[in-house]
Amino acid sequence: MEFKIIPQPSEITVFSSESAFFFSDETQISCPDEFSRALDDLVLFSQKVFSINLLGGGKEKIVFSKSDEIKNKEGYKISVKNNNIFIFASDGAGAFYAVQTLKQLLLQGKNNLPEMEIFDLPQCAWRGFMLDSARYFFSVEAVKLFLDSMALHKLNCFHWHLTDDQGWRIELYNKLLLAQIGSHRSCTNFGKTPHEGYYSKEDIEEIVSYASEKYISIIPEIDSPGHVVSAIAAYPELSCFNRELEVETKWGIKNDVLCVGKEETYDFMFEILDEICEMFPSKIIHIGGDEVPTVRWKLCPHCQKKMKELGFENESQLHGYYLSRIASYLEKKGFLVIMWDSKNLDHSVSKSVIRQFWSSDEAGKIESRGDFKLINSSTDAFYLDYPYGHTNLKKCYEAEINLYSDNCLGGEACLWTEYVPSMKKAGYCLFPRLAAFSERVWCKRENLSYENFVSKIPQYKKLLDTLPFDYASMKQAMPSFFRKHCYNLWFERRRLHWGSLHNTIDNFKVKKLSKKEKTND
Ligand code: ACM
Ligand code: ZN
Repeated sequence: MEFKIIPQPSEITVFSSESAFFFSDETQISCPDEFSRALDDLVLFSQKVFSINLLGGGKEKIVFSKSDEIKNKEGYKISVKNNNIFIFASDGAGAFYAVQTLKQLLLQGKNNLPEMEIFDLPQCAWRGFMLDSARYFFSVEAVKLFLDSMALHKLNCFHWHLTDDQGWRIELYNKLLLAQIGSHRSCTNFGKTPHEGYYSKEDIEEIVSYASEKYISIIPEIDSPGHVVSAIAAYPELSCFNRELEVETKWGIKNDVLCVGKEETYDFMFEILDEICEMFPSKIIHIGGDEVPTVRWKLCPHCQKKMKELGFENESQLHGYYLSRIASYLEKKGFLVIMWDSKNLDHSVSKSVIRQFWSSDEAGKIESRGDFKLINSSTDAFYLDYPYGHTNLKKCYEAEINLYSDNCLGGEACLWTEYVPSMKKAGYCLFPRLAAFSERVWCKRENLSYENFVSKIPQYKKLLDTLPFDYASMKQAMPSFFRKHCYNLWFERRRLHWGSLHNTIDNFKVKKLSKKEKTND
């Protein structure tokens, strides 16, 4: 029989068609303590999906063993023969990924497996998924479901976009108003309904622990100096001209950003970052840094004074200076720092900061910047909230990971949620594209075949049915010419209408306001 595993393992060999192992309540297990997370995951899945309680007593055995022959920590070997499944790994992560593969084998073999062998290891160290909890708040249970789906796809880095203009979603004892005020949005873009929610300390602890059971690191993102209207709503003194603002109701790039001329802004940020660092054990933090209009800085006496002191000629240098200070503060605490690649940013931010690139215009610039470490979140392929008319399944599958640099750590699929206000829509956007993405970041290049991938989709959907997610049909994921253009028209109409038009009007108003305030200052 042919097994159809996603992501495709490096090598899979089936030696015979006869059953060599039958999975049942009586299957015995042997597992070293350090692989207990892998075993727990198998036990839970067996109960939930096969109604099998592993009580032992039979002749079949699943034997987990530590083997230093498996060099990659996330790699594993599975060998099925003579009523045994042997699982070899050098680390718990590898054993855990072996279990993810075993789930698919057992589902497809209907609990029977022939004599077979699988060797497997990932190609990319960074296999990320980003969830925007700022534009749309997902409950703790919903976040756990995203983590479950990441584990099934052998993804290992959960980038959590926790703050943005439209919402501050994390409770901080140092600055209580951030969550108390910043998490309430009076009206959303489309639903025109109020929206709110934030994660308490206990929620974060619960999610961090849940992710760690699945070998997933959580990378919190505290986005600044742009995308901070929700923070300014709570603490107006963070902005130039101490603006009294409401948590943003519309989407798009906002002119009100942090006042980086005031020293108090840095003190504020360091204080909140201290607290964030204590909450997330991954020791990796994302500082955002993208989409920072400078209209305020150009008019603000504090920002202009700072530029003069530092001998800067343009606001882009000020942007670089701010991010450098934030990054080096975190690096001194032993954190690895990531930022979005950002338009017009000068070269001052340290090379040790990883750049996550998204827009193809910007990536071109990175190339000329040389040897930064990169994460690929190309909008063309890995922004999974984009309509299938823009990014169909094949485009996502065939995207190049090592764009622009040999220093690419891997890829990250992003789910921005301004237009994803439900789990139903999230499922539709993510699946099956997350499968294509997972194969792209896990598989050896020579094993990538879109035709083979598509042939695996029916079996893959049975795997997905073990989670309560919706997914797009193949017709939706690969829209016809007509449907493609309908989707695009709808998408562009929304972007044009709400993004560009709203921002143009807003820019005009802000310029007038700033002039008035400057005269009053
Ligand atoms: C981004 O899409 N602005 C990271
Ligand atoms: Zn300022």
